[in-house]
Amino acid sequence: MRTQVGIVGAGPGGLLLAHLLQREGIESIVLETASRAAVEGRVRASVLEYGTARLLVQAGVGARMEREALVQHGIVLRFGGVPHRINFAELVDGRGVVVWGQHEVVKDLIAARLDAGGDIRFDVSDVALADIESKRPSIRFRHGGENHVVECDVIAGCDGFHGISRGAIPGGALQVFERLYPFAWLGIMADAPPPADELVYAHHPSGFALASMRSQRISRLYIQVSPGEDLAYWSDARIWDELDQRLVGPDGGFTLAEGPVLQRGITLLRSFVVEPMRYGRLFLVGDSAHVVPPTGAKGMNLAIADAAVLARGLVALFKTGDTALVDHYSEVCLRRVWAAEHFSWWMTRLLHRGPFDTPFDQRRQLAELDRLVSSPAAAAALAEAYVGRPLEHA
Ligand code: FAD
Ligand code: DHB
Repeated sequence: MRTQVGIVGAGPGGLLLAHLLQREGIESIVLETASRAAVEGRVRASVLEYGTARLLVQAGVGARMEREALVQHGIVLRFGGVPHRINFAELVDGRGVVVWGQHEVVKDLIAARLDAGGDIRFDVSDVALADIESKRPSIRFRHGGENHVVECDVIAGCDGFHGISRGAIPGGALQVFERLYPFAWLGIMADAPPPADELVYAHHPSGFALASMRSQRISRLYIQVSPGEDLAYWSDARIWDELDQRLVGPDGGFTLAEGPVLQRGITLLRSFVVEPMRYGRLFLVGDSAHVVPPTGAKGMNLAIADAAVLARGLVALFKTGDTALVDHYSEVCLRRVWAAEHFSWWMTRLLHRGPFDTPFDQRRQLAELDRLVSSPAAAAALAEAYVGRPLEHA
């Protein structure tokens, strides 16, 4: 088997890369260990930056999102029991974010690829990369009970944090930057209307809480818990009670409608970056190269931005032989990645309660939150980072 770009992983990064390349007549094969149903059913991120949403529309995979997704022109910061709105429309030229589940993005990308006759192999196993330093790198894998090898010009490692691509690079060639946080998020999806029209990020003495949504009828709600927490100890009643305390409190402001819990899970918080994001003919895309804690809602946006930068570089490489863009791939992506790493770390530190935090730390957080809602300059900096910087290629 032979292709121009071998793509490992069918998350948003890998699928968008395949789609953008296909539109330019560049061949690729996408290899994915999970089943199509598992990939399309994974509950993960939901906030699309302004530039991400525009890119999906420009790439012809945004029609359903434009029809069905919720556009948001602000967020609510809740602290000291009181909600405060950050108005993006005023602060960042009317730009907003789009709330649209990652699995919906993935569904549309898979449909677009299959409609165009593109190759995605789900349910593969034993994926291994070879000769990534050479001009003929290859990917070995098992599919349908048989061993296969696909020879490529270039490999894109889009296989997430736990994938194999990053590990194919000799250890000494990568610099690793990492921070683990002493807390986790317990998230639920509930068949209940969201408590507010906009996302609510709450600072509370018991810990952070977030009210998000998937539609006007489905809520996505999170509470900060300790990293070793066992879901078995969290009954629905206990989760709703904790959400109510942190998001509503005694003086209300809005009500939290309860409903059947459709899905629940615990996510650990981590910051992680490897540099560079390229080794020989292997390019790392998205979570395989960097992870952010979810507080800033940046993970999927970064994967999509990496894919867009790489697609542009590969189009130049295959069409004209020009290597300038691929040679700068890592440098261009890392600038955006580190901005998002900083923002996500900052939002996390602003809103969570650390196990060793003192009353001083709580007052410091409240002072910073107060500054954000009383200084237009501080609010604008938050809004600008949340809505996201323009994509490099746009
Ligand atoms: P992924 O979406 O991880 O896709 C990688 C794909 O590669 C997967 O389909 C995987 O099955 C496949 N794969 C793995 N190994 C192999 C292999 N060896 N061979 C072939 N395929 C392989 N971000 C937010 O902003 N907000 C959130 O609330 C949020 N929640 C999250 C919850 C969880 C549990 C996780 C893990 C992440 C969450 N994120 C969140 C982050 C966001 O979802 C990711 O940043 C985004 O999915 C990155 O996209 P990607 O394409 O790089 O990787
Ligand atoms: C969601 C997740 C986030 O991490 C975030 O910051 C905002 C929204 C969500 O799942 O809806």
